[in-house]
Amino acid sequence: MKGLFITLEGPDGSGKSTIARFLADYIKEKGYDVITTREPGGTKISEDIRDIILDNNNTSMSYVTEALLYAASRAQHVSQKIRPAIDEGKVIICERFVLSSLVYQGIGRGLGIEKVKEINDFAIQGVEPDLILFFDIPPEIAIRRKTKKNQGDRLEREKLDFHRKVYEGYLSLMEVYEGKIKTIDATKTKNDTFQQAKAALDNLFEKI
Ligand code: TYD
Repeated sequence: MKGLFITLEGPDGSGKSTIARFLADYIKEKGYDVITTREPGGTKISEDIRDIILDNNNTSMSYVTEALLYAASRAQHVSQKIRPAIDEGKVIICERFVLSSLVYQGIGRGLGIEKVKEINDFAIQGVEPDLILFFDIPPEIAIRRKTKKNQGDRLEREKLDFHRKVYEGYLSLMEVYEGKIKTIDATKTKNDTFQQAKAALDNLFEKI
């Protein structure tokens, strides 16, 4: 079997990391070889780029630089980790992918969807997710969950206005990914959220 590439999307604090772990355990139990990974990051070079992007001292970073760094981090991640795993028939659970850049940089930062898509098309060289799970939670609730835990990185410290734009950006792009994207109500308990994500996965596995 060719591998399966599943990405998790949604606002900061929507619970993607927790559900990624639950899903990986579930897929393992089903007998598949699974890896979990994240963006920005996932390889040494990509994690190094992540540190630059999220560094709270980098207040002078231009939005174009930010978008290119996310794309650069992604290019390395795809070539070194994701494509090889797909070729080996693995199931890949990845927190965030191109949709994050379209929404955060394209809409949130105002760089425009087309430009951001262009640099990302170059970065991913045709590797597209088989399924996108969108963790739907209004930013007001999600941010409260997150900032209870820590001070927040450079992106998390953005004002609520930015996170609202990001959230609405996600909603506005749903139809572009129609058929590939499944909305999960992430305002519920962890277990309830997991059950919804699991159902979407079961559905995908039935089709292969
Ligand atoms: P992440 O560590 O996934 O944050 P969280 O756990 O809160 O989801 O991502 C770090 C930040 O980077 C997050 O604020 C979203 C942002 N981001 C972009 O702006 N563009 C991108 O392409 C990606 C992958 C992330």
